[in-house]
Amino acid sequence: MFGSKRHHLRVTDSTNTFARSLILESAEEGTAVTAEYQTAGRGRHDRVWESNPWKNLLVSFVIYPSRNIEEWGGLPLMTGLAVAETISLFSHRRAMLKWPNDVLVGGKKISGILLESGSSPGPWAVVGIGINVRQKEFGGDFYNLPTSISLEGGSDVTPEMVYDSLCGALDKWYAIWCEEGTHAIAASWKEQTDMLGRPCVYIENGEERTVTPGDINDDGSLSVENTDGSFESLYSGDISIRLRSRPNDKYGSE
Ligand code: BTN
Repeated sequence: MFGSKRHHLRVTDSTNTFARSLILESAEEGTAVTAEYQTAGRGRHDRVWESNPWKNLLVSFVIYPSRNIEEWGGLPLMTGLAVAETISLFSHRRAMLKWPNDVLVGGKKISGILLESGSSPGPWAVVGIGINVRQKEFGGDFYNLPTSISLEGGSDVTPEMVYDSLCGALDKWYAIWCEEGTHAIAASWKEQTDMLGRPCVYIENGEERTVTPGDINDDGSLSVENTDGSFESLYSGDISIRLRSRPNDKYGSE
């Protein structure tokens, strides 16, 4: 289903923006938009997503999730699982997840996921995924360093190979989520992260505080313990979490 129809563009502003325009034309579920270059690639928190031409996978999928909107917090989790599985396959290194949907290899960011959703003309979501495939140098000032499949041991891997594998992995994890819900993927997600039980910096509206994530709730939210011993659930919305560096880490990661 993922990639059943595909629009491949040499250049576009953002594949997410293009995919959103297809919803108005009743694009079928799983329709993919890929691009070789984006002039205005978008990341979370209104950041820019930059990618050198022809080097990386830039893709957005249109979906119409049938589960209740309260369960949609599982979508970033199922996407992260599919992306991590694909990256591990090609890089031969274990890709780890950071809630809600960052994918890291060796503490460096190898992929970004931007989920956008709406309710008109009916419930829809666009799953935007950038995977660094064969870019070896990255400009810019990053809190956590970027990396790519080729830098992590995957030689001769092309964005097209990654795309084919990613579609299969998304088919698998999306089917589990559609049939059984978020709780069915939470266990797999927890096996793929090292952030539970580890103090993190939680940033909300520019304010930082320390929280210790303990669990993933059935709605996909993150259960954390505050420094005063109280507990709360965090929802993905517009929040940012940074793993606190361990003594031997050179860089933190966001
Ligand atoms: C993040 O901030 O980590 C999310 C980055 C998401 C980037 C991808 S690239 C394909 C798709 N099109 C976009 O404009 N953004 C997403």
